[in-house]
Amino acid sequence: MELKNITLEGISYPINSGISEYVPDIKNFIEKSIDKSLLKALMASISIDPWIPVLLVGPTGGGKTELIRWLSNKTNHSYRRIQLNGSTNIDSFVGKWLINEQGTYWVDGILTDAMRKGHWLLLDELNAALPEILFVLHSLLDNDRCLILDDKGKEIVKMHPNFRLFAAMNPTEDYTGTKELNRALLDRFTVLKFDYPTKPNEEKIVSAHSGISRTFGSVSGIPVIKRMVEFANIIRKKNESATIVSICSTRQLIHWAKLCQHLDIKHAAEVSIINKCDTDEQTSIRDELNKLFINNESIQSIERVEKQMKEDLKKQEELLALKKQAEVKINPEEIDPIIKAKLIAKSMEFDKIPFTTTIKDKEEINNILDKIVPDNIIPEVKLDGAVTFDEPMPTNLYPEPTRVATEADLPF
Ligand SMILES: Nc1ncnc2c1ncn2[C@@H]1O[C@H](COP(=O)(O)OP(=O)(O)OP(=O)(O)O)[C@@H](O)[C@H]1O
Ligand SMILES: [Mg+2]
Repeated sequence: MELKNITLEGISYPINSGISEYVPDIKNFIEKSIDKSLLKALMASISIDPWIPVLLVGPTGGGKTELIRWLSNKTNHSYRRIQLNGSTNIDSFVGKWLINEQGTYWVDGILTDAMRKGHWLLLDELNAALPEILFVLHSLLDNDRCLILDDKGKEIVKMHPNFRLFAAMNPTEDYTGTKELNRALLDRFTVLKFDYPTKPNEEKIVSAHSGISRTFGSVSGIPVIKRMVEFANIIRKKNESATIVSICSTRQLIHWAKLCQHLDIKHAAEVSIINKCDTDEQTSIRDELNKLFINNESIQSIERVEKQMKEDLKKQEELLALKKQAEVKINPEEIDPIIKAKLIAKSMEFDKIPFTTTIKDKEEINNILDKIVPDNIIPEVKLDGAVTFDEPMPTNLYPEPTRVATEADLPF
């Protein structure tokens, strides 16, 4: 059977050739947003022998889970996830005995099942796990790397070669003061620090999930997605400087942008972000929002304005193209002799020659007139008041006479 590899950050990893039950479906994933050194460390940890489990530590909604889902998709491995909050007990983790009409039977927990079948397992909220779960993990990750099912006659469950273990958690204030047991467990992991994506990458992510283009809504100068990400970053900065406790995650931004399909932008922000913020902080956060979204914008209203602007732009471009044509048409040699005569007459008689032209450069006009009028006459065009530049489309350079020239006006 052909064995293929995937190489990421210079590290090669075999793609699972078998049929995997739970390969996640990945849509709109932005590979560029993954931190290269983080990905390299992740690849290194799962590739070496024996592999090292990886713990991702980062803020909520920043993409930890999505990264592991994406990698299991790339390598065609089944992905499983379990939330290790206080209600996840050892039975659902390791396994338990159940009873039916036939008698008792054993059901593997998620860890045992993943180990036997070679699935990838993500333990979410590792820092919230019950001590008994941490204990199982602790002994599992010791050198022998197998699980002993005490309740099942001390059955030894070995790890399938494809099995990999990941964990994720949000950094907590007391993270540095992690309890001794957790410290010992942490010791057995590679710890990768995760942060929110950079602004351009977060824009790409929000845009990919919501379908709103990154350039959409530039009416007020800055596109909508860019302003949304800017808003999130203001909140995050305030949070980092301990001014506020509220946060704004990539997940919230995605929800906000998606809701904009039906709600106006501020209304969508209220329900996806502001209502989740600390009550005391909502007013100041709303103020920040109002600075970035001044009008009661909605995607639909921006769409209308943008459509109108595009139409106007198209008209302007057509006009410009016409002007170009008109400018090309001005060939002094081909100017009607009578008109030419009138022009000369006027240039002799008046110091202002009222005419309209598409040519804005006075020099250029003079050059043309130079070619038209005889050598002994030096025409001078005064642009002030005499020439209309922003009138729509005069098509020639011919003067608009202030009075009709008579034979007497003509010098020859
Ligand atoms: N690189 C990416 N490309 C596309 N979407 C992404 C990317 N990273 C994150 N996302 C999206 O951002 C949202 C949050 O990501 P995810 O659920 O992985 O966060 P998390 O860090 O696991 O959060 P929590 O700590 O709350 O579990 C998801 O909707 C996910 O699809
Ligand atoms: Mg997660």
